[in-house]
Amino acid sequence: MSKTIAVIGATGAQGGSVARAFLKLDGWKVRAITRNISSDSAQKLASEGAEIVSANADDEASLVKAFQDATAVFAVTNFWEHLFTGSSPNESGEKEAEQAKKLARAASQTASLDHYVWSTLPSAKGATDGKFPVPHLDYKAEVNDWIQSHLPALHTKTTYLVLGFYPSNFANFPNLKPFELPGSWGKWVQIMPTPSSAVIPVCGDINITPGVWTRQIIAKPELTKGRFVDIAPEVLSFGEMLKIYGEVTGRQTGYLQVSVEDFASVWGVAGKEIADQFTFGEQFKEGWGSVNSIRKEDLGIKDDEWPGFKQTLESLKDQL
Ligand SMILES: NC(=O)c1ccc[n+]([C@@H]2O[C@H](COP(=O)([O-])OP(=O)(O)OC[C@H]3O[C@@H](n4cnc5c(N)ncnc54)[C@H](OP(=O)(O)O)[C@@H]3O)[C@@H](O)[C@H]2O)c1
Repeated sequence: MSKTIAVIGATGAQGGSVARAFLKLDGWKVRAITRNISSDSAQKLASEGAEIVSANADDEASLVKAFQDATAVFAVTNFWEHLFTGSSPNESGEKEAEQAKKLARAASQTASLDHYVWSTLPSAKGATDGKFPVPHLDYKAEVNDWIQSHLPALHTKTTYLVLGFYPSNFANFPNLKPFELPGSWGKWVQIMPTPSSAVIPVCGDINITPGVWTRQIIAKPELTKGRFVDIAPEVLSFGEMLKIYGEVTGRQTGYLQVSVEDFASVWGVAGKEIADQFTFGEQFKEGWGSVNSIRKEDLGIKDDEWPGFKQTLESLKDQL
């Protein structure tokens, strides 16, 4: 009999990758959960064989229903939707954490559930003695601790998945995308609130890697339950990433470092949030991540399964 994976965020980047990976996997059915079952992306998933179910992370009862009979659940929350619709960073984090707790409580009520994969991030506050808080990391991380203390039975079925920086941010995150600077003789410039030498873990193609990692996490429960797994197959500096962007696009590039205050004065709260994340990242010379994360080699992930930063930008060339 087939097993079912219920996927929150199936119409988006992370969940879409998980849904597509399990649609290809023998013995699995995919239940794509969305607030809008008639959206183009929901309908596309339906045409590819997914069951489309309506639920909302604000409504716990709808989640309990949507998770019914599922063997596995993949769950993600979207801090940025709250921030981009007018909430402050802390309000966005509080809303995100509330949704994440509803997702976890609903999963804990799912009798058939064997594995819960929760897409989270590490605590910036915790890793820096409170010096460098970053709401879109810290509120997720508080939910990690909350699952362990309030839902211990769910914790034993949970894998805490930590994704690095998406290469696609270069194509579609407005304040990270390089742009052609007038009067610069054709240079494409990235204005950044961090040195070009600062490094960050990078997650590979967001349309592929969460699916590959989740597939292997669920295939190796003895290794992954109750544990953190990072999707960070590369650690790159911002300067290296811009150089690769130049190679892929054939453009001349320029990296302009500005202060956190100047970046935030142009990009507002979203700029401040990104800048704070990068300032946190500067505290770690080899990139931040989870303590004792399980390595991709131990998960049995082969190197030809994860398109890295360069290969991903090549596939996104039209959008750069
Ligand atoms: N950008 C990066 O480099 C990066 C790196 C690591 C982690 N992250 C984290 O990734 C998260 C966003 O994930 P993503 O990139 O996959 O987002 P995304 O592509 O914007 O998709 C968001 C998904 O969440 C679903 N969703 C949102 N609110 C919902 C609700 N109330 N109930 C049910 N479903 C809901 C949406 O479904 P419907 O609209 O169909 O309902 C959609 O499928 C953020 O929290 C961010 O902090 C980002």
